[in-house]
Amino acid sequence: MTQTTPDAPVRRQRAQVKVRTLRTDRWWLVPLLTFLGLSSFLVYGIWAIIDNSYFVDPYIAPFASPCLATSCPEGARLFGWAPFGDWYALPPGLLILGLPGGFRLTCYYYRKSYYRSFWLSPPACAVQEPHGKYTGERRFPLILQNIHRYFFYAAIVIGLILAYDAVLALVHKPTGLGTWILVVNAVLINAYTLSCHSCRHITAGRLNHFSRHPLRYRAWTFVSKLNAKHQPLAWASMFSVMGADLYVRLVAKGIIAFPYA
Ligand code: FES
Repeated sequence: MTQTTPDAPVRRQRAQVKVRTLRTDRWWLVPLLTFLGLSSFLVYGIWAIIDNSYFVDPYIAPFASPCLATSCPEGARLFGWAPFGDWYALPPGLLILGLPGGFRLTCYYYRKSYYRSFWLSPPACAVQEPHGKYTGERRFPLILQNIHRYFFYAAIVIGLILAYDAVLALVHKPTGLGTWILVVNAVLINAYTLSCHSCRHITAGRLNHFSRHPLRYRAWTFVSKLNAKHQPLAWASMFSVMGADLYVRLVAKGIIAFPYA
């Protein structure tokens, strides 16, 4: 029979905290700013889809590129193609935005940010969430987040097309402000895409011996450095693509005059 003494270890129980959180810092600030930032991107994206001023030679708004419908103005079509024809007369942006949109929607970083800021699941560390249970991403519909790696391949193509648009602007209007806005945007979009966790896995995720695959090791090292900056790149590229898109539309509408554009 065991004897208890005053010095015997006490069995510890989980703290019964009745309040929502014991944190005294402004823990709500990051989810709030995230909510505002992502909401502004969503609202802008919806407006950009229905706005028709997306091309002014040699600039094309990133949200409408590639322009692949016969309704696209002359010079806006990628290599002159129009594989979508005038499919249901949908706005050109609507035909392709599902790919970069899906890439961001299923991104590991964005998932964390909108789970916290929109679903409050949880809103911050050490803060109670309003949901009664947590089922993770193992069931429908959140299990569909696993298609992220396939969106990555589409995002690579979109990133290359935006780089091509920037090069075209550079060739035809090297001193234009819009040209350099498109160049910076293309760099940030491609840096964000290459910093993707799926990209890091593709470069060397399954290798057992880096020494036998020196090229893949170098690619993995490069992508790993970008990957460490994935969160800031997600925000920088999001604002750059919105800014570049808005800039081209303002020039196309004549709100910004061309000699300086
Ligand atoms: Fe963020 Fe792939 S994890 S883009």
